[in-house]
Amino acid sequence: MAEDFDVSLNETAVYHPDPSFRNQEMYKDYATAYRDFLKDPDGFWRNIASDLVWFRPWDTICEWEYPFARWFVNAQCNITYNCLERHVKNHRRNKVALFWRGEGEQERILTYDHLYKDVMQFANGLKKLGVSKGDRVCIYMPMIPEQVIAMLACARIGAVHSVVFAGYGASALNQRITGAEAKIVITAESSVRRGKTIPLKPIVEEALLHAPTVEHVVVLRTQQPPVTLVPDFEVDFYELMNGAPKDCPPEVMDAEDPLFILYTSGTTGTPKGIVHTCGGYMVGAYYTTKYVLNVMDNDVYWCTADPGWVTGHTYGIYGPLLTGATIFMSESTPDFPDPGIWWKLIEEYGINILYTAPTAIRTFMKFGEEWPDRYDLSSLRILASVGEPLNPEAFLWFYHTIGKKRCPIIDTWWQTETGMHMITTLAGEPMKPGYAGKPIPGVVADVVDRDGNTVPPNQGGFLAIKEPWPSMMRTIFRDEDRYRKYWESGNHPYYSTSDLAVKDNDGYIMILGRSDDLIIVSGHNIGSAEVESALVSHQAVAEAAAIGKPDPLKGNIVKAFVTLIEGYTPSDKLTGDLKYHVRQTLGPISVPAELEYTDTLPKTRSGKIMRRVLRARELGMDPGDISTIDE
Ligand code: WT7
Repeated sequence: MAEDFDVSLNETAVYHPDPSFRNQEMYKDYATAYRDFLKDPDGFWRNIASDLVWFRPWDTICEWEYPFARWFVNAQCNITYNCLERHVKNHRRNKVALFWRGEGEQERILTYDHLYKDVMQFANGLKKLGVSKGDRVCIYMPMIPEQVIAMLACARIGAVHSVVFAGYGASALNQRITGAEAKIVITAESSVRRGKTIPLKPIVEEALLHAPTVEHVVVLRTQQPPVTLVPDFEVDFYELMNGAPKDCPPEVMDAEDPLFILYTSGTTGTPKGIVHTCGGYMVGAYYTTKYVLNVMDNDVYWCTADPGWVTGHTYGIYGPLLTGATIFMSESTPDFPDPGIWWKLIEEYGINILYTAPTAIRTFMKFGEEWPDRYDLSSLRILASVGEPLNPEAFLWFYHTIGKKRCPIIDTWWQTETGMHMITTLAGEPMKPGYAGKPIPGVVADVVDRDGNTVPPNQGGFLAIKEPWPSMMRTIFRDEDRYRKYWESGNHPYYSTSDLAVKDNDGYIMILGRSDDLIIVSGHNIGSAEVESALVSHQAVAEAAAIGKPDPLKGNIVKAFVTLIEGYTPSDKLTGDLKYHVRQTLGPISVPAELEYTDTLPKTRSGKIMRRVLRARELGMDPGDISTIDE
């Protein structure tokens, strides 16, 4: 609730980067660009979309039938044509598309031509397994080139990929496989983290116990001797690929055909399968990578996000490939083998753009300046952040210690649902630490009250998006009602972000956090409901409630309140068991850092657990309206 927030804004310092950072191709300055967009929104998007190759042009730019939008109506395209052929057939054939670094210093380099050929051949392999346009393919792999190949191969043939972060546990994976009714699962035998091998295949096997739609599992074998595969059901990644024909023309996709589903946690029920489309998403990813992140032809660009998250989709893979950039991808953990690893990689590869998360920046702050100071970071041109508010301390450290006061800091606000950046400070514009910035040209956003009316500057409210945009989600897979809910708050047809925000006199927006029960831990979206149902699935637990609790490093941690079934008593052993159980079910990022036993949980008379009452108690705040509480 916005009213619960004490929004006391201090006078903020303003940082002025060199105006030469402004992307001249696009705009002279923010104000002019934004005004031009408002004057002619269709013209604005037409201009951007015209940089890309379409097999058939659109009839109209946007058809808006609240709450459903269609963009680039009746146009035909294939995103992989724009990511691959468009470069291979022009001057980028032998340009590096992907530098990949493993934890153990292994390196792999794929040129655009290599990537193009691998994608086509693996796409033909998928066809051999019976995959065709519209089928869903679940990808559960570590951050390796094969993950990129698998995603693009799906897009090549019009199959809808659903990438699941390889840190998720068996039950979370099962939910996402069955939710998407996946026909194929693509996985790897194992991944590596901090020098340790982490088996993935056993998790997939467990997740497949009740997943009737899956016909085959494609396994990238990584161990010696390689794991034995179940004949006919399990298929080796490279045998499938190398045994397939080489040439695979791109499937002709309607702009509104689905490109992918990506699951994101909700506050209730099962995770939401966010559906993105081929045309609008492509334009949004291309536009923002080029004009917000400012990726240029000679840049080596590093987005540290795993492709299991939307950041990895849009800015790890699709966006940079659409702009023809060189991607740097690394499996590395920020402090392994030591806290200098990222800075070492930046020096070694001459990285120009670094896009990462506040939690990583705060972790590095803790290790101290001596680590980055050992390396030459002068190649860096732009620094960007995403996932949670970039607090002023982290902004300043990033700006001074990493950027040496040369690099603009671009704090990008957006969501899985928005597909692309929405609010940020474009390179070259004045920066205010703590503020994400303004809606980018193409986006109409505002801070509103509960009814959807604009609130005056410096007053907290809900962040709303007022007009459709090309890369907006089109629906929630098999759950249109849930999609409609995003557009049904207040008396206006606005998209509700569920974030709280405040706008200052200059129009800069500061994101204050979530207005719902979603918990953002280290920039990852944790659904309170998922944690609760994982806890309740343990034999000792009667009821559970999960809330977010502010944490200086991770932004938030998960705190769980648990009531036990008769006959069980609280103990450290049980706490350990419960945490282990959540880890096995959902994966390590969802494990409650704190777990408290309680005899009762505050509930409404209809039996809904009132998490906000628990949160208020925990933080010593006023719980707000508790008239519905059941004494
Ligand atoms: C939620 C969306 C967008 C990719 C990563 C997360 C929070 C995201 C920022 C930012 C403050 C941010 C919001 C948002 N968030 N970026 N720059 N400043 N908060 O995607 O998992 O869909 O989560 O992350 O609360 O609603 P997601």
